[in-house]
Amino acid sequence: MNAAPNLSMNAMTDLPSPTLDSASTVASDAGADPSRGAPLIDVRDLRKRFGEVEVLRGIDLQIARSEVVCIIGPSGSGKSTLLRCLAALETYDQGDVRIEGELLGYSERNGRRVRASQGEINRVRRNVGMVFQQFNLWPHMTALGNVMEALLRVRHLSRDEARRRAHAMLETVGLAHKADAYPARLSGGQQQRVAIARALAMEPHIMLFDEPTSALDPELVGEVLQVMKQLARDGMTMAVVTHEMGFAAQVADKVVFIDQGRIAAQGAPREVFHDAGQPRLQQFLQNYFDRNAFWARGNDDAAPL
Ligand SMILES: Nc1ncnc2c1ncn2[C@@H]1O[C@H](COP(=O)(O)OP(=O)(O)OP(=O)(O)O)[C@@H](O)[C@H]1O
Ligand SMILES: [Mg+2]
Repeated sequence: MNAAPNLSMNAMTDLPSPTLDSASTVASDAGADPSRGAPLIDVRDLRKRFGEVEVLRGIDLQIARSEVVCIIGPSGSGKSTLLRCLAALETYDQGDVRIEGELLGYSERNGRRVRASQGEINRVRRNVGMVFQQFNLWPHMTALGNVMEALLRVRHLSRDEARRRAHAMLETVGLAHKADAYPARLSGGQQQRVAIARALAMEPHIMLFDEPTSALDPELVGEVLQVMKQLARDGMTMAVVTHEMGFAAQVADKVVFIDQGRIAAQGAPREVFHDAGQPRLQQFLQNYFDRNAFWARGNDDAAPL
């Protein structure tokens, strides 16, 4: 009997198998749900090049308040670069990134666009939180200390106030009991949950996740996805680059497929996963399901008799 220890694969069971032979095309221009009001993030014709290579080639993406958008796509298609542009960790060459209506990275002066000052950039992105594949915790600080750090240095809270908020955030991710533990004494899943608590402590209006579970052992993936599901239920606006198709199918309001720097398809999970008329999307999903079928068989073989 397969003990199915792989939680990421357990999530797969929530995803009905796709009908990849469907001819219908997923709408590639689906905008944000108008009933949710003005988009929290509004990206228009975003273009970014590294040297000769244009890695983002005209991205249009709207993310409404409380919307969960999952971004999928092959390696090197530009997913991380897109998120990094939204967090102002990367400059962009052309197009608009607006956060809550404000242009990120540039200001308009006398009808001309000039690079914004760092202070201005920080102001516009202050409500954007980001969680990376690598947790990047300070090894010499406890879990609590890691969550408190930016509250003290960036938000200039008093120590008492920072401690109180950091404790509350650790509680949110189920780690209040690990407040005094150093990262080396925490599992990868726990470290990632501390990283999420650290981002949440800044009270972001949107959370960007770049493959938050990819560096984790399979049995630790589920605990991080649970925290993210709870955040989604609580109404957090989220953009999540992920290979966890089960999570995307369950939690996303919208799935965005990026291929070679362009959004090749987007829509509700059901549309994207079941009516994937787009050949590149079909191929991407087929590879994904083949790989997981392979691992599922591998688990069966490895299971004790
Ligand atoms: N700082 C950089 N300098 C030069 N090229 C870069 C830089 N960052 C990314 N690239 C290139 O841009 C392209 C898109 O990279 P990106 O990291 O956004 O892809 P990705 O979709 O996140 O891939 P993965 O799934 O492997 O994480 C790749 O060809 C990559 O090599
Ligand atoms: Mg990436």
